Amino acid sequence: MLDLLITNATLPDGRTNASVAVQDGEIVDVAPGLKAEAHETLDAQGQLLSPPFVDAHFHMDATLSYGLPRVNQSGTLLEGIALWGELKPLLTQEALVSRAMQYCDWAVGKGLLAIRTHVDVCDARLLAVDALLEVKKRVAPYIDLQLVAFPQDGVLRSPDAMDNLQRALDKGVDVVGGIPHFERTMQDGALSVKLLCEIAAERGLLVDMHCDESDDPLSRHVETLAFETQRLGLHGRVVGSHLTSMHSMDNYYVSKLLPLMKEANLGVIANPLINITLQGRHDTYPKRRGMTRVPEQMAHGLTVAFGQDCAMDPWYSLGSGDMLEVAHMGLHVAQMTSQSAMRQCFDAVTVNPAKLMHLKGYGIEKGCKADFVLLQARDPIEALRLRATRLKVFKRGKVIAETAPSVSRLSLPERPATTSWQI
Ligand code: FE2
Repeated sequence: MLDLLITNATLPDGRTNASVAVQDGEIVDVAPGLKAEAHETLDAQGQLLSPPFVDAHFHMDATLSYGLPRVNQSGTLLEGIALWGELKPLLTQEALVSRAMQYCDWAVGKGLLAIRTHVDVCDARLLAVDALLEVKKRVAPYIDLQLVAFPQDGVLRSPDAMDNLQRALDKGVDVVGGIPHFERTMQDGALSVKLLCEIAAERGLLVDMHCDESDDPLSRHVETLAFETQRLGLHGRVVGSHLTSMHSMDNYYVSKLLPLMKEANLGVIANPLINITLQGRHDTYPKRRGMTRVPEQMAHGLTVAFGQDCAMDPWYSLGSGDMLEVAHMGLHVAQMTSQSAMRQCFDAVTVNPAKLMHLKGYGIEKGCKADFVLLQARDPIEALRLRATRLKVFKRGKVIAETAPSVSRLSLPERPATTSWQI
């Protein structure tokens, strides 16, 4: 007897009338019209059953701190970093854990069950590292939380940051981070990329670096990141996050750069909500959008994900852990409006970040973990259009969050009694 049988589901790859059989927290079969005895059955009524949303770029140590100690007036990355510097001495472990746990509640309600968060290691107390290691332990039954050792103030620019980063990795932080464009010079930026990639190679870790998060068309750290990746044999284990300078680069140079990124099998994470608000702040008009060249990177065979990056923190005043909102913005900013491009935007918040995070057992296939989200939508494009309600969120075959269907009751002459915005 099965634990759970879901019938009549639509899957993101277009399969319809799919049945998903679950036993002991694992998917044991996926086939059309399965018939089997189960303790629990659910008729999906043709709605979309997706693997959970994945956010490969977030800052959980800063989340939900909006307004502490003040609001970012200029809206720039640099004021955000300065503001975070003002907040850091005021942080307590208790407050960090409490805000992160609240954000994780929001994430579960939105079907977001895997998050890679950067954690600032420039504070010698490693307060945020200890707090997020504690959060990682607490949420492990329902969220896969991956931590990146992130030297926010520059691993070379900030005193003791290299030592702090190594200590954070010793404590169990999973991934090596960096911020080369914030180092004092372009040369120091390149040196930081080299040193950090060498640390990852020695320790057998993944790399995820904030890279070229500026509107400077001459920022070249992604070139160095690609070079170090291939030099050290880290292919497929290194991610460049943001890469916003690529938006402003010369087209000829980009035509050389994209094949170098492909040669290194570099992953890319764009953060559309944040990139569109932080970038272009020094422009008058025309005002640059600032997001990296997502369609071109995808066309070159690179794995590209969209990240939330920030939610209610010194850099961004909005956000709720809704990866459909993130993908919706990415679709607009990148003008990815064809049918296939819109589906790629859905992949950019599901399978692509799962690949970049090296998640195991992810997907709706036999042998995968029974983690999925039932959406009030009939396909990925409708899910994006409606930022669809997450009707049920499953972890290892058990429902861990439910939301009532979104429907509006109408009182109109000679019109239907309700609408749910579907044709
Ligand atoms: Fe970031």
